[in-house]
Amino acid sequence: MITRRGVLSGIGASAISTVIPNISSAATLGTFLAMPPLLDSTRTGRFRLEAQSGRTNFLGQAATETWGFNQSYLGPTIRIANKASVQAEVENNLSEEISVHWHGMIIPGDVDGGPHQPIASGSTWSPELPIDQAAATIWYHTHIHGETARQVYKGLAGVLQLSDGLDDERGLPSKYGLDDLTLVLQDRRFDRNGRMDYSLSMPDQMMGFLGDTIVVNGQVGATAVVPKGIARLRLLNGSNSRIYGLTMSDNRPMHLIAADAGLLDRPIELDDLTIAPGERYEVLVDFSNGRDVSLVSRQNTNTAMMRRTRTSGSSFEILPFKVDTALSARIAKLPQDLGGSRPDMDPSSAKDRRVTLDMQMGPGMMMRRSSNRFSINGQPFDMQRMDFTIQRGTLERWSVSADMMMHPLHVHGVKFQVLSENGRAPSLQNSGWKDTVLIDGRVELLMKFDQPASESLPFMFHCHILEHEDSGMMGQFSVV
Ligand code: C2O
Ligand code: CU
Ligand code: CU
Repeated sequence: MITRRGVLSGIGASAISTVIPNISSAATLGTFLAMPPLLDSTRTGRFRLEAQSGRTNFLGQAATETWGFNQSYLGPTIRIANKASVQAEVENNLSEEISVHWHGMIIPGDVDGGPHQPIASGSTWSPELPIDQAAATIWYHTHIHGETARQVYKGLAGVLQLSDGLDDERGLPSKYGLDDLTLVLQDRRFDRNGRMDYSLSMPDQMMGFLGDTIVVNGQVGATAVVPKGIARLRLLNGSNSRIYGLTMSDNRPMHLIAADAGLLDRPIELDDLTIAPGERYEVLVDFSNGRDVSLVSRQNTNTAMMRRTRTSGSSFEILPFKVDTALSARIAKLPQDLGGSRPDMDPSSAKDRRVTLDMQMGPGMMMRRSSNRFSINGQPFDMQRMDFTIQRGTLERWSVSADMMMHPLHVHGVKFQVLSENGRAPSLQNSGWKDTVLIDGRVELLMKFDQPASESLPFMFHCHILEHEDSGMMGQFSVV
């Protein structure tokens, strides 16, 4: 099979030419997009994951050794109830230690699955997850300090649906893979033989790794089939570092219905949607005119120093859609009331905290290989150091700032309200409940710490550009 790995033009000039991505066009292999297998555990209240190695042939050339849960690359979409105690079981059949963090689950630190909870090769971890939060699309991935980027790149990630079973009542698309699509967006690099490649150059380590090919749900060049009606796209940016500026190729609107931590009160019409690593957004798209269309993205510009535009330049294709009129279109109109919420907390009693995401970018930084150039409040991550202790039940206002690059900040154990972005009201897409947000300048966040975390099993907060996280842009705190 022939793959078209075309070079796209329109990329702005950059000081470091080696980090400019050449994105290949998606529609090359001509297959239909498959969803991750659905593992519906809403009835049983238990699920089992087996981390394993396998072989994946992404481009129809040579196969690559990849990792996955219960399969060779990525993991199943696990559906569990949003208010339930769920028994998880994770067996590690790989030859090195991994962990499984439930990104977006608001649960105590002792079952959070961060870097202090490695699962040794050959062993099984069986946490009981006390879930009590709004329905949301969240995800799970490995979180071993210093190894997260490489291990996630190899495939150790998957989507989790916290479901309250009320989507039909809300008038939302809910048929998995039919009108309710789960889309894991990743970019990967391939060598001449079509093998997936992860070798970090110094610029990759500084700017974050960017791939040359878009992979959706582990597939390259697939087309998604949708009914002639409204479909729901559950988007996860599962890339190591790429930020997508998503639009529809014919500029039809996307109707935002959910952010990281759950549904909004009502749909918000958007022309474009920025999604940074770790973030999830759910949108409704109307396919009732029957025309084929593509989800496209503008170029990532978080590679050049001192850049302030999120994405720009010509668009490249993420995923083409084909309307199949034989499929029954269940949802024909946009629901008006989603039954979710947008946060509106009173910040007056909040305790203030400053969080500065630092990169040392002095002269010669491209020549020296060092893992200590990334830090938070001047200190690179240290597994042995507690960065702070929070009194359980406290409301905090975090003033988070980043210079030089944008960094998607993620905080474990909470959901938060974006209070302001560079002194202004948050963008519409950031008006919902979030657990990860792109810091572009200075952003104020409001969050209440209700979940406990001990000093031995604390919560993490970090940049979700995985190369930055692994290089020290992470901190940890206990909640007592
Ligand atoms: Cu998605 Cu601390 O991770
Ligand atoms: Cu997390
Ligand atoms: Cu970063």
